Formats: sequence, structure tokens, C-alpha cells
Amino acid sequence: MDAKTDELRDAHDALAEVYASRLARVMDQLPADRAVLGMFCDLVLGNGAGAEVGDVGCGTGRLAPYLAARGLVPRGVDLSPEMIRVARRDQPGFRFDVADLRELPFGDASLAGVICWYSLMYCAPADRPRAFGELARVVRPGGYLATAFKAGDGEVRRGGVTLGTGFDVYWLSPDQMQRYITDAGFSITFWAGRPADPDENQPQGYLIAQRL
Ligand SMILES: C[S@@+](CC[C@H](N)C(=O)[O-])C[C@H]1O[C@@H](n2cnc3c(N)ncnc32)[C@H](O)[C@@H]1O
Repeated sequence: MDAKTDELRDAHDALAEVYASRLARVMDQLPADRAVLGMFCDLVLGNGAGAEVGDVGCGTGRLAPYLAARGLVPRGVDLSPEMIRVARRDQPGFRFDVADLRELPFGDASLAGVICWYSLMYCAPADRPRAFGELARVVRPGGYLATAFKAGDGEVRRGGVTLGTGFDVYWLSPDQMQRYITDAGFSITFWAGRPADPDENQPQGYLIAQRL
């Protein structure tokens, strides 16, 4: 593993319990997240291509109960072993594995969809074709990808600093995100954005795309 990936993994290992306590019930306060994820669930189930979806960069696994309650079968993967330990502890009954989104542990066209909820912003430019290519590889034609992301100018910044860690983040613009996703072999189904809430530092983007 390269030094940047080590740094990212170690930082998220250190943040796992912080995330677990801060984000446990945050979905209740995020109607836009619920609406977009709900649309993703409806689209996935509506095309009859199965219900198993990858939650890629799943963190503490907080999305799993929401997705399962809407009929999906989520499988979480995350780079950070600590995030996966916490996810297994806090969300028993779901499958979580340590894996890098640049090398997903799913077969070709094996999933009905993938979710990347605030997990694509760590990919350096050179890694993006491989990362988005992996997302396209594992979703069967007609399946869906959903992503939420902090929207910005795409420049590299240091994240996690206020929490005592540090790693590179790239807040892609909605146009950049759409381009990476369409270049990988998806067609955009839906996109939206919202201004930053008072406790957020960036506007948020949402996107759903269908695998061609
Ligand atoms: C901001 S957290 C979001 C977690 C979760 N999706 C959520 O919404 O609560 C980003 C997560 O992406 C994971 N991550 C970052 N880079 C990754 C990579 N290359 N492969 C897999 N997971 C990654 C981090 O370990 C972290 O748990």
C-alpha cells in the first residue's frame, strides 16, 4: 500500500468511534439524503435486477438499516479495519468487509447497485479511472450507482484536521463528478445539490446514474 493510502486508512481507523457517536442518528436530520437514497432503492428494485448493493466506503455501516428497510441487501466495504469492526458491532446482521474501492471484492456485474456516500472524495486524480472503473465493473447493466459528495473546486485539501488527523480530500464539482461517472459507463439519471447547513463547510451534491 502507498503512503497516502496508509495515512487515509490510519486516520479513519482513529475516527471510527467518533463517527459512530456523531453519525448514529444523523439520517433523521437529513431529508435530502433520505430522499435520494429512497429514490435509489426504488430504482434498483423497480428494474428487477436484484437487491444486493455494495455500500462502498461504508464507514460505520449507518446506511445499512435504512437500505434494508427499503428492500435492499447491502454489503458494506471500507478501507479502514476499525470502521469495519465498528460496523459489525453496531449493525449486526449485515455483511461488512475490509476492501479498497479501487479493488472491490465483488464479481463482474454481480450487484444491482453501488452506493458511495461521501467516500469518493479521497481518490487522487490518478486513481479515479480505476476507482470509477471498479464501480462500473461490479454493477450489472441496468443497475444503479448513487453518490453523495461535498461539492467544490476539485483541488486537493487536507481533511480531518479539526479531528486531530490528516488526509487528502478532493471536493469535486458536480460537473467533474458527472464526467467521471459517465466516462466509466453510466448514464446520469438524477442530480441535485443543496447549500451547506450551518454545521457544514461545503455544499452537498447528489447523483444517481444507471449502468449502460
Ligand atoms: C466520510 S466517511 C463516510 C462513511 C459512510 N459512507 C457514511 O456515509 O457514513 C468516508 C469513508 O470512506 C472510506 N474510504 C476512503 N477511501 C476508501 C477507499 N479507497 N476504499 C474504501 N473505503 C474508503 C473511509 O475509510 C471512510 O470510512
